[in-house]
Amino acid sequence: MADTYTTRLWGGRFREDEDALMHHFNSECWRTEWLVEPDIEGSLAHVAMLGECGLLTAAEEQAITQGLQEILADYRAGRIAYTEEYEDVHTFVELQLIRRIGDVGKKLHTARSRNDQCNVDMKLYVKRQAKYIGSLIEALCGTLQRTAEANPWIMPGYTHLQRAQVVTFKYYLLAYREMLLRDEKRLKNAVEVMDECPLGCGALAGTTHAIHRDFTARALGFAGGPCANFIDGVSDRDFVLEVLADFSILMMHLSRLSEELILWSSAEFGFIVLDDRYTTGSSIMPQKKNPDGAELVRGRTGRVYGDLLALLCAMKGLPLAYNKDMQQDKDSFADALDAVTASLLIMERMIGTLRAKPKAMRAAVKRGFLNATEVADYLVAKGVPFRDAHGIVGRIVIYCEDAQKAIEELSLEELLQFSPVFEKDIFDYIDYDAILQKGIKKEML
Ligand code: ARG
Repeated sequence: MADTYTTRLWGGRFREDEDALMHHFNSECWRTEWLVEPDIEGSLAHVAMLGECGLLTAAEEQAITQGLQEILADYRAGRIAYTEEYEDVHTFVELQLIRRIGDVGKKLHTARSRNDQCNVDMKLYVKRQAKYIGSLIEALCGTLQRTAEANPWIMPGYTHLQRAQVVTFKYYLLAYREMLLRDEKRLKNAVEVMDECPLGCGALAGTTHAIHRDFTARALGFAGGPCANFIDGVSDRDFVLEVLADFSILMMHLSRLSEELILWSSAEFGFIVLDDRYTTGSSIMPQKKNPDGAELVRGRTGRVYGDLLALLCAMKGLPLAYNKDMQQDKDSFADALDAVTASLLIMERMIGTLRAKPKAMRAAVKRGFLNATEVADYLVAKGVPFRDAHGIVGRIVIYCEDAQKAIEELSLEELLQFSPVFEKDIFDYIDYDAILQKGIKKEML
């Protein structure tokens, strides 16, 4: 039997080593190098607290603190590696410490379990990344705003992907900005909800030592103090799920925007040109310019939903408290974070570099009776009840389709066949640009 504490944190009660396949299956080292820093950060706070409570002497506290700082520096400089030899990030750091400073390092894990430790690490990381994603959202919102201001062009708005009413390209882009602002708010809220420190929950039942949980919570920046319930503190993965759910909604928005970019840049719409840098060509068709950037964002959205679903499914049948299934929270989060980060960065560049084609937008406005609703509004202004006005304009549309004309191309005489209230001012009323100056529609300019 391998001696205990050279490759793992446990082993005293085992007669046999783990099967190599089992070790590989159990190790999280392939996927959690990003947890090394938060793990050391959590340990530094824990050690300071143990010193404060008298569970470590000043010399012990100093030795462990220094050892941890050296491990951090060596890790950052690439002098030590977190490899498969270690079961997980906690094992890596603790064994490095013991190797470095000897027996005193074995005191680090006093009044702590990997169950509270892994949740501290994840919360530190998830909180930070949620804020980072918030900053990327803000950058994209800024670019949407700038691109919107620079492109006040009139364009068709759609429902059911059928031409509906006149809007502006600017206003359309600003609709996405609103969605993204909500996404940022959701992430901020998730950070607020998760802001309690699991340290001290132990394996599931706290500890017999009189430790100071407020101390570690404060040192690590958990505004809500320590977790209220030990069992919940180690069983909870809501905070990962909530951010994954927020990521999923965010990706849904980015995917819808991607879909618009793909449609608008097609010859069928021809409303925008995407910058060459975010498109690719075809190996066989020389003329092709494909919107791959947008397609990849749309494509990765499904994966982020999958990450959320995978963790929801992993959690749904678990009794309290810790179960190893929960280790997978890291895979789900890392995969989703990667997709969200890349998608926000690419989307910001695609929006910042797209070129609008106002002429094509205006040409599309003129086909499809986009002022039909305003003809009805006109009739209402002249005293016709809206439902009757709707019917009148419906009949005008059939007439126009047969005559292959737009409503504004009809003569007053033709219009008078449908209602006696039409007057010459109808033509000003339903002019596409004039429509946008009326009532609350001015907000779209
Ligand atoms: N690597 C584990 C995780 O992240 C740490 C908790 C291990 N606890 C245990 N009882 N094996 O989930």
